[in-house]
Amino acid sequence: MSALSDVEPGWRALPAGRTFSPELLRLREAAFGWLEPYYDRIHLTRAADWMLVLAPDAPEHLLLAALMHDLERSVPGGPVLDKANMAWDDVAYNTAHTHRSAEVVSAWLRDHGAPEAFVEGVQQPIREHEFGGSPEGDLMQAADSISFLETNGDLVSTWAVRGECTAEKSEEKLRWMYERIRLERARPWALPYLERSVDQLRRVAAGELDAPADPGRAPGS
Ligand SMILES: [Fe+2]
Ligand SMILES: [Fe+2]
Repeated sequence: MSALSDVEPGWRALPAGRTFSPELLRLREAAFGWLEPYYDRIHLTRAADWMLVLAPDAPEHLLLAALMHDLERSVPGGPVLDKANMAWDDVAYNTAHTHRSAEVVSAWLRDHGAPEAFVEGVQQPIREHEFGGSPEGDLMQAADSISFLETNGDLVSTWAVRGECTAEKSEEKLRWMYERIRLERARPWALPYLERSVDQLRRVAAGELDAPADPGRAPGS
């Protein structure tokens, strides 16, 4: 994956000159282990990386929220989005997804001895990661969108190839991930990744590019 922006963060890079608490560093390492078997772990990792670009002084709970924001999908029994027949911004689905993730992540933090400020602090931004809302929610949504568009061109192309939804519907997903961004200053960083992912999808759908290897089947965002 080539860099499209001179602000593109390094993999799991922490900003030089900022000190983090031992609790944050311990829980971040533990979270890397939790998301390792998750199909969209690269997207989650990059959401946290981009959070530090968007907000170098982001509070520590917001870094943890970005890193784990979709992980309800790693726990069986969650809501399911019918990609062919439901809107990407379906309120009922996205509310169920975000609220369940807030509960799952919060419980995981408590089980791992996190301070109560982290256990409580991750909940609202995770609940707001799809639609935004508060200042922290808008940062989460922007980090989620940039990371999704950066990392999930393969995933979205695969939906079309497998017939899970049409190529047009797949492209709608990419465009929604860009157009929903409420934090205006994040848009220029998301745009080149949107364009790259749309180009990949169109070329795969047209048979000009090979279908990606198995990047997973879940909805992803
Ligand atoms: Fe999500
Ligand atoms: Fe996401």
